[in-house]
Amino acid sequence: MDTSGDWDRLRALKGVKWTRYGPEVLPAWVADMDFDQAGPIKAAITSMVERGDLGYEFEGLNALQSTWAQWVSRQHGLEVDVDELWSFTGALHALEAIMILDTVPGDGVVLFTPIYYPFRSAIEDSGRTVVDVALDTPGWRLDAERFEDALTPNTRVVLFCHPHNPTGRVFDAEELAAFADVVERRNLLVITDEVWADLAHAPNKHVPLILAEPRLAKHTVTLGSASKAFNVSGLRCAVAHVGPPHLRRALDQFPTHLLGGPSTMSAAATVAAWTQCDDWLNEHLAIISTNRDHVGARLAGECETVRFEAPEATYLAWLDFTQTTLGDDPAKVLLKKAGVALDQGLKFGYQGAGYARLNFATNREVLDAVLDRIIAAVNSGVTP
Ligand SMILES: Cc1ncc(COP(=O)(O)O)c(C=O)c1O
Repeated sequence: MDTSGDWDRLRALKGVKWTRYGPEVLPAWVADMDFDQAGPIKAAITSMVERGDLGYEFEGLNALQSTWAQWVSRQHGLEVDVDELWSFTGALHALEAIMILDTVPGDGVVLFTPIYYPFRSAIEDSGRTVVDVALDTPGWRLDAERFEDALTPNTRVVLFCHPHNPTGRVFDAEELAAFADVVERRNLLVITDEVWADLAHAPNKHVPLILAEPRLAKHTVTLGSASKAFNVSGLRCAVAHVGPPHLRRALDQFPTHLLGGPSTMSAAATVAAWTQCDDWLNEHLAIISTNRDHVGARLAGECETVRFEAPEATYLAWLDFTQTTLGDDPAKVLLKKAGVALDQGLKFGYQGAGYARLNFATNREVLDAVLDRIIAAVNSGVTP
């Protein structure tokens, strides 16, 4: 597919990715793709607008949950009971609401770091206590012993990210089994954010946590959404499978409108994504996988001081600049001196010193322009 030549469309976008830094900067930071959405998603939205059909409508909202159940069954082999599903306005909405419902201020909440930074703010902003468990290097592996050693008597919840942002890890069966042993032994609640599930690069395969470890079903809330795989983050919609019965009761008793939920338009678009857009997803996942290899090949060939471990999933590269002259905050230097916007590694935790996160879900022309700027800056020995 020819994805080159749409600079004008990208420059005209009003989203935060292409507007925050102005026209001289190439954006490769926030996790939105540069690809135009699939036809059926756009048709679902425009047909509602054309019909003037923007009033209350419950069918689409109800369909959302059963559609997700069918989607995860087809995509990942996970069978869920529709009665155990809830809709939310986004994955972070679900994550925060459920974490807050099941804890009190001061309780410990585990993070495997470096980690997608809103997880940490969710804990800190609600007065819970971060239990920071570093992933093991090299390879960003889960270390179950380190996890168990970090637990305090009042640690109640784990915010799990699988596949993992920013490292792109798809945790394997061995890691998940050792993780599950600790969760069971210590009777923890796991909120597993699986919004990247549909973007694993072959031969890697995402296996939902509760499919890999069915004994965790009663301990786990699984979050899914179309936002990453189909590039519809702004529409605001997510689905949660709530395994623990006490949490289902708590959600049932909670005032409905305080929890909120997706709009009819986001539900319609999400249902379209999960029922009519397989070809689009396959085509774009192939582009993303090729881009991932291209980033690796260019860095290895032209700039080997920037280390790159190919992500097993996601369109995010967790780049290691620690062997370069860029210092602890390479994204800041690259923004100022190279006109390219990456996400700052330090936002993901102390392990992010000397790292930056690159979003490579774009067309080849933009990706090469971004890489040209990074490579030129690093090879010229640019400093903070
Ligand atoms: C792991 C992860 N969870 C959640 C989100 C955001 O989800 P939402 O916009 O549905 O709250 C992102 C966005 O990049 C993410 O990477």
